[in-house]
Amino acid sequence: MCGIVGYIGKKRAVDVILKGLSYLEYRGYDSAGVALISNNAVHIYKAPGKLSNLKEILSQEKEENINANIGIGHTRWATHGLPTEVNAHPHHCNCGSLTIVHNGIIENYKDLKPDLEKKGCKFLSQTDTEVAAHLIAHEFADTKDLLKAVQNAVKKLKGAYAFCVTHKTMPDRIIAARKNAPLIIGVGEGENFIASDIPAIIEYTKKAIYLSDNQVAEIKTDSIKIYDKNNNLIANKIENLPFEPIALSKMGYKHFMLKEIHEQPDVVRNVLIDKIKSENLAVVLDDVKLSKEQLTKINRIQIIACGTSLHAGLVGKYIFEELTGIPVDVEASSEYIYRNTIADENTLVIGISQSGETADTITAIKQAKEKNSHILIITNRKDSAMARLADSLLPVNAGIEVSVAATKSYMAQLLSLYLLAIYMAENSTKCNNSSLIKEIKKELLTLPSKLETILNDTKNIENIAKKYSSFKNFIFIARGINYPTALEGALKLKEISYINATGYPAGELKHGPIAMLDETMPVLAILNEGVVYDKVLSNCEEAKARQAKLIGVTNFIDEKHKNLFDDAVIIPEIPDIVSPALNIVVLQLLAYHISEYLGKDVDQPRNLAKSVTVE
Ligand code: M6R
Repeated sequence: MCGIVGYIGKKRAVDVILKGLSYLEYRGYDSAGVALISNNAVHIYKAPGKLSNLKEILSQEKEENINANIGIGHTRWATHGLPTEVNAHPHHCNCGSLTIVHNGIIENYKDLKPDLEKKGCKFLSQTDTEVAAHLIAHEFADTKDLLKAVQNAVKKLKGAYAFCVTHKTMPDRIIAARKNAPLIIGVGEGENFIASDIPAIIEYTKKAIYLSDNQVAEIKTDSIKIYDKNNNLIANKIENLPFEPIALSKMGYKHFMLKEIHEQPDVVRNVLIDKIKSENLAVVLDDVKLSKEQLTKINRIQIIACGTSLHAGLVGKYIFEELTGIPVDVEASSEYIYRNTIADENTLVIGISQSGETADTITAIKQAKEKNSHILIITNRKDSAMARLADSLLPVNAGIEVSVAATKSYMAQLLSLYLLAIYMAENSTKCNNSSLIKEIKKELLTLPSKLETILNDTKNIENIAKKYSSFKNFIFIARGINYPTALEGALKLKEISYINATGYPAGELKHGPIAMLDETMPVLAILNEGVVYDKVLSNCEEAKARQAKLIGVTNFIDEKHKNLFDDAVIIPEIPDIVSPALNIVVLQLLAYHISEYLGKDVDQPRNLAKSVTVE
């Protein structure tokens, strides 16, 4: 949450910062601001709302004020204080000479504030960040050295932070620091960059240093010096950045979300490549660092994740239990933490996260690590904090996902879970079910073309979206392995259209939720031919008898039930165990088209952020 960009060099800093922030808006977009040093003066500009508001203000500013070669910028996701101009970053000290942009939460800001107030600090905002600005300014007053001031101040800060600091009297440097929040330093020639994430700087450089926890960096135009927590200078580890700038383009689609939905067939191909060659060959997963002996000893699996990744984990439970016979618990990371969880060295703990940055999941993984469990991380960001905690790292290779609503990363997570379950079954002496494994492999290999069948003709889904877009509430039902699909479909609709949608196991409808059904509450049912098909049909009949409008997402409707559904989307033939990967695409498209029809901000829905780095 919150995006940071810093620049020092020869370019117009404001241009680099605004462009960089536009690629970081996914991290938060309730206000934005920049601080520039030019002509021996600090110029701070802030605006509530989206970055475009800040751009508008800057477009009317005098050139001499914004023609700076050093600056820091921020896009905010509010934690402390409303998303107002005064709470927007950068924050500054009393005299305005020192400015800071910050991502994270200073947990002890209330403890530090009274002392700073006694020393004369005037607080203008409700933010935790302003405490850091005053604290560093006081250290600077003592040391007259910005690096030392930050080094002293961070020792007094508790919580999570990534920040950049500038001072009017030292316009040749930016000081950056991090703890439990991401920050990279882009390495240029005669210029350097700082950012929360790669997209902000990839246009300018493909080389960067990933700042580690408790490190402080001093960045000038032609030097980068990194210090560890004992203030010792350490060697720079420069790495090549994995993205191409093209990944950040909409490629002609109206929204990133639509582009990312349409990328899913290729995402599947990408995940499978070199891992499944044919249904007759064993799955190859070099990333799993568990010996056959260790695999055979695993007697419990715990999957920890949040949001969409949690729903992928719930699908994983069905797959693992079916193929490996090992009991699986799936839990929201925020519920896993701060209690005595039962895990030991024979427990496999799987953390799933698109961003690899989600604070709840990071904390949960650290907790599991203390129990000596093997930690396997499934993430789309192999450069993330979570990846660094992994004993085994399974990168899902979905490519950068810009839209806040996760789509293609979910698909890649599902595929990774199928692969992992098959791999474990094939490499453990407990493996049975080889004919089912063979069938799943065959289906996974044909999945891209089935996805393309859905994606090549979306007219029916668009019509249904239009027809139902005025309803205020929805219920999504399914049973078995598609119950998590119902949860994920409902989440997609909620987060991008703000329509109240709830996922239920279809059999639970009659235990309470059925009380809400009438003609104003559409029910979307996911039903695949298989053991639960007839049961879900009965639940649909029960809903119909309460006058609910029924939408079916299915691979099969028999003659008898043709008229049961008000509307239906028929997906290609697919066995139940692989069907979540097809059904979800219909629900993603439905949510997308409803949101788009309602004119909502599809890629950046209100109140959300792409990576949630606070607990
Ligand atoms: O990066 P992560 O997968 O750990 O993120 C978890 C959730 O915050 C995320 O899935 C969220 O629910 C998305 N907005 C879903 O579209």
